Amino acid sequence: GLAPLVDPFGRAISYLRVSVTDRCDLRCVYCMSEHMTFLPKADILTLEELDRLCAAFIARGTRKLRITGGEPLVRRGIMTLFGTLSRHLASGALEELTLTTNGSQLDKHAAALADCGVRRINVSLDTLDPQTFRDITRWGDLDQVKAGIAAAQRAGIAVKINAVALKGVNEHELGNLMVWAHGAGMDLTLIEVMPLGDIGENRLDQYLPLSMVRARLAERFTLTETDYRTGGPARYVRVAETGGRLGFITPLTHNFCESCNRVRLTCTGTLFMCLGQEDAADLRAVLRTAPDEATLHAALDAAIARKPKGHDFVIDRRRKRPAVARHMSVTGG
Ligand code: GTP
Ligand code: 5AD
Ligand code: SF4
Repeated sequence: GLAPLVDPFGRAISYLRVSVTDRCDLRCVYCMSEHMTFLPKADILTLEELDRLCAAFIARGTRKLRITGGEPLVRRGIMTLFGTLSRHLASGALEELTLTTNGSQLDKHAAALADCGVRRINVSLDTLDPQTFRDITRWGDLDQVKAGIAAAQRAGIAVKINAVALKGVNEHELGNLMVWAHGAGMDLTLIEVMPLGDIGENRLDQYLPLSMVRARLAERFTLTETDYRTGGPARYVRVAETGGRLGFITPLTHNFCESCNRVRLTCTGTLFMCLGQEDAADLRAVLRTAPDEATLHAALDAAIARKPKGHDFVIDRRRKRPAVARHMSVTGG
């Protein structure tokens, strides 16, 4: 077979995140600005092109494939892509096919996702308060997301909740969100807000270090370290009072780049070697001008050879511009 992709720091690339659309039916305040200009269709990879690129990565050692957006379930024909990708689960080449979703369309797609071999999904949900949910998402319907979660669970899919910790917005609710998630048999992962894209807001007003959140939760709950890992960046504790798992994603307070195993493909075929850097490789140009496999694999090698050591996110008073100009919705987190 072909050689696995390994970067100059010896990190094997086993996790590919694929954004299938830059569009979303919500406008979360930490992700997008209210008025977004979305990409024209001609720029977007076709489902066949996406499938081909995923297959190339799988041939080079990708074991975990996560479909993201924007909101992946608003992409037309998305279930066709899940259907074709599921062949890699059947062959044993791929260990996990999954997605990160805002849950708004999940009730419609849950059963079909389960049929494609999706076993575990991440649903972004930052609050259980309907008004706070609207404040964060700008017009989202909390009950619709809850219905999506329930549908996924009925289909036998394990759900993990992702919550971005937001100062003064959901910070006093995170304990309750955890109790709710654990009560419904779901893990909860808390995320530090990252400075991607000009969102018309000061990141310092949003940013809440998870070291603080954790200290506060530890006053109410007994947290015990675990070595549970998913292949993603979260570190987990077990919560004695709920019996559930709580994850922390801490790019700011505890950098995890050293163990990075992932790269990101956007819906235009741009490969970002790091979420927190601007450098990228144009794989669409390769697909559309030199459609042979050897040229594609050479382009993957050249891209991975440029994978940087890590991000240099900082959120502070002096930094007026975002660390990275593109919005989170371009790379899907
Ligand atoms: P699991 O498979 O459940 O571990 O998922 P995951 O954490 O890998 O993926 P998810 O899409 O749920 O991402 C959760 C958060 O982690 C998002 O805010 C991502 O932006 C962030 N994240 C994932 N990978 C990286 C990374 O390599 N660097 C940074 N800085 N953040 C990341
Ligand atoms: N910082 C941290 N996480 C973010 N997400 C979106 N924007 C940001 C940001 N600026 C989260 C979403 C979703 C995941 C893919 O990324 O809430 O759970
Ligand atoms: Fe949409 Fe997710 Fe971004 Fe919210 S965080 S606007 S749900 S892509």
